[in-house]
Amino acid sequence: MIVVGSGARHLRGEIERICGKLASVEIKKFPDGEKYVRVLSSGNEVTVVQSTYKPQDENIVEALILGDALRERGFKRLRLLVPYLAYSRQDRVTHEGEPVSVRAVLKALGIYYDELYVVDVHNPETLRFFPGKAVNVSPAKAIATYFKEKLGEGIVLAPDRGARTRAKAVARRLGLGHSHFEKHRVSPTEVEIRPVDIDVEGKNVLIVDDIISTGGTIMKATSILRRMGAERIFVGVTHGVFADGAIERVSKVVDELAVTNTIPTPVSRINIVPDLLGLRG
Ligand code: R5P
Repeated sequence: MIVVGSGARHLRGEIERICGKLASVEIKKFPDGEKYVRVLSSGNEVTVVQSTYKPQDENIVEALILGDALRERGFKRLRLLVPYLAYSRQDRVTHEGEPVSVRAVLKALGIYYDELYVVDVHNPETLRFFPGKAVNVSPAKAIATYFKEKLGEGIVLAPDRGARTRAKAVARRLGLGHSHFEKHRVSPTEVEIRPVDIDVEGKNVLIVDDIISTGGTIMKATSILRRMGAERIFVGVTHGVFADGAIERVSKVVDELAVTNTIPTPVSRINIVPDLLGLRG
């Protein structure tokens, strides 16, 4: 039994194609803007697919009230699949008085859901805040499959230390080497990046990261790679958050930009649904 929330409606066709008929659920809004949900199907186990991208808060609340409706309807085991988890970058207190926002979200979801699967969560450590079983779904297979033919020989690059595990996993699947840059964030919109000791002269490079927001990280990494003599530069990223104009800015300087379909964008060409449903071998 699969329920697709409003936040994942862009994946509905693909989920239906793979899983067949979906559960019967009514989701609408009251005139004052509050969400209304009603579950018409019944059963014992259910999987809810709900992304929490724009509007983030509304989609989180919808996941909670869907959980409540499903329990009310008698479902015993609830699994939540989250293509994009909002608040995942608010994972630490940097100024006194701040919350660990992702903790609040994960604890709240844990009131209703027994299992949680999140695609490429920004900091996998934070999944421990979810009280039940929580799994970080890797995008590595999907990204590697998409770029296999395009990249040929080359190298996979993480734009910062934090992205190394993901880049390594993609490189392993492609049978290629991997490396990383050192990144220092100067402000929310500005980063400084230093190359490490790698030779990209005449080589194709695939930059792999979890999120593109302003595009600053990828733009900086690309300009360094061009100076170092890289041949073709491909970008494979999990979540295309894309601040205003970021798609155009990044597309202009790279040979191809592709993100997964956790968030619907004009460049969401990498299909993550089989991985999210645990179907890609
Ligand atoms: C940072 O740690 C993340 O992995 C991304 O590199 C970052 O969020 C990208 O942001 P932007 O596109 O604004 O540079």
